[in-house]
Amino acid sequence: HIIGLQSEKAQRHLPSPTENTPTLLVLYGSQTGTAQDTAQRIGRQARRRHLQVQVLPLDSYVVANLISESLVVFVCATTGQGDPPDNMKNFWRFIFRKSLPVGSLGRLDCAIMGLGDSSILSQFNFVAKKLHKRLLQLGANMLLPVGLADDQHDLGSDAVVDPWLTSFWEKVFALYPSLAGVIPMREDEPLPPTYTFHFLDDVKEKTDDRLRIPMEQTVPSQSHPFPARLVSNSRVTDTLHFQDVRHIEFDITGSNVEFAAGDVVMMRPCNFPEDVQQFCQLLRLDPEARFTLRATDNTAVPARLPQPCTVRHLVESYLDIAAVPRRSFFELLSTFATNELEREKLIELSSAAGQDELHSYCNRPRRTALEVLADFPHTTAELKVDYLLDLFPDIQPRSFSIASSLQAHPHRLQILVAVVSYKTKMYKPRRGLCSTWLASLDPAQGEVYVPLWVKKGTMRFPKEKDTPVIMVGPGTGVAPFRSALQERIAEGKNANVLFFGCRSERKDFYLRTEWEEMMKTGRLNLFTAFSRDQEEKVYVQHRVRENAELMWDLIANRSACFYIAGNAKEMPTGVCDALKEVFQQQGGMSAEDAEQMLAAMERTGRFQSETWS
Ligand code: 2AM
Repeated sequence: HIIGLQSEKAQRHLPSPTENTPTLLVLYGSQTGTAQDTAQRIGRQARRRHLQVQVLPLDSYVVANLISESLVVFVCATTGQGDPPDNMKNFWRFIFRKSLPVGSLGRLDCAIMGLGDSSILSQFNFVAKKLHKRLLQLGANMLLPVGLADDQHDLGSDAVVDPWLTSFWEKVFALYPSLAGVIPMREDEPLPPTYTFHFLDDVKEKTDDRLRIPMEQTVPSQSHPFPARLVSNSRVTDTLHFQDVRHIEFDITGSNVEFAAGDVVMMRPCNFPEDVQQFCQLLRLDPEARFTLRATDNTAVPARLPQPCTVRHLVESYLDIAAVPRRSFFELLSTFATNELEREKLIELSSAAGQDELHSYCNRPRRTALEVLADFPHTTAELKVDYLLDLFPDIQPRSFSIASSLQAHPHRLQILVAVVSYKTKMYKPRRGLCSTWLASLDPAQGEVYVPLWVKKGTMRFPKEKDTPVIMVGPGTGVAPFRSALQERIAEGKNANVLFFGCRSERKDFYLRTEWEEMMKTGRLNLFTAFSRDQEEKVYVQHRVRENAELMWDLIANRSACFYIAGNAKEMPTGVCDALKEVFQQQGGMSAEDAEQMLAAMERTGRFQSETWS
């Protein structure tokens, strides 16, 4: 059958699946949202080709059903040290079960698009490659080679994704004769929205947008976060110092939240009130208006949105209007533009040829989606509210190393947060959404609750009582080590060495009195590096070198574990280099042997690092 969907009417009535037309399932594992965006893009392309399609995070899909699927695309990111993203961890465990019969996916045609970062070459797209091997083993038919998209590529991952998708659709159309003659919708025609908004008339009635506390005794998770009460939020750097660092404490009584040193807490920030207001003005939306959402196909309504919900709540805590928008945002926006100038510009920014331009317009100056909307006022005024959830991704959770131990602070969870702010060519300084939002919360203004959950971290500390630990944590990198110190001291593990670095003893040497307490009782050996209190820069790695003898004794003779945490870009390499020099100088090793010794320590978990940008 030939379906040339050009009319409004036809757009709303996509064909129902016939016996011979496949339903495409797009399953993704995404940590920061790029894989999710790619998966959704494949979903839109499928709909333009009149295929029934479902796009889901891998862990929201019942994996056992794969046996009866016929066409699946997997979009998988590789995170950290070659790990799968959080929202595919259960799938990952399931698919590698030994009990799965070889050949059980014999009916499945599939393809895998991997998203990775080639700057960590050894792990580049490890998850996608490993999944590929496993699915072949289970008998699946691979329609084309694994797509290996690279975040480090000048043009972003699309440089690989675009041509890969072209050949994917060719394969699919060749595979299903029922698709022969199907004419895809034009790119400049908007697809029907995923949801429709149904506004309620009784504006007066109050809606409770607060998160409902689950009654059952579950461990808090992304889908069931625990609303933790904010106990305190205090600045720990001098008020004249450029960097605002907060020590924030939450009450987690009754939450079932448990954690150990090295674990991280996850939370989603809210948009800034002035951004919410500007957004509503630009789109001519009444923030107090209430609506319910209805899905136009088989997509579930987002569980995080109450029904009914106010426009304010949607904009404040769901739509990511403060992030740098992706190419798909411009693609969809361009379909609404009637102003010729705006339309041309938007089409250019969403075209493959316009990606350099998009990069310098958006990514380099870190322009936000809201600022883009303000640059295209005619188009923005014409946006249809039904498309809001297609245009804006939801606000992604952020993670913070937990800075306290339950043994020292029962029922409490504490973090250290550096408030992010920097200049680009944009007039207004760029602000980190989550850190700025957290810093703005004030428990003195009434009870404040922050929905959160806890995730296992990668760092682990030794169980043996006598194994010493050497921890290098400049700046907020010290957070997991504060947790470890509190935990270890409570357990009577007193062989603790900490290297802390900051700019100035007077301005940002936070937690000083706590360290001094631990030192007084002989349970901590602290070395500090104040980088700007003298002419020459002094960093933590200088202190590691100065204490070569002690380092060597602890590592070579007492099997100490060595840890690095922090966000200074060059810091981890600097510390590793210092450590290798210690091995050479004290152990009489060659450079090569020192390198191998560090590698061996890493393999056995005696050297661990957690760094963030
Ligand atoms: P700086 O800002 O004076 O350069 C916490 O941020 C501390 O880490 C600061 O004292 C900062 O010093 C320091 N730092 C910056 N770059 C570093 C590096 N490459 N190695 C170690 N410490 C570094």
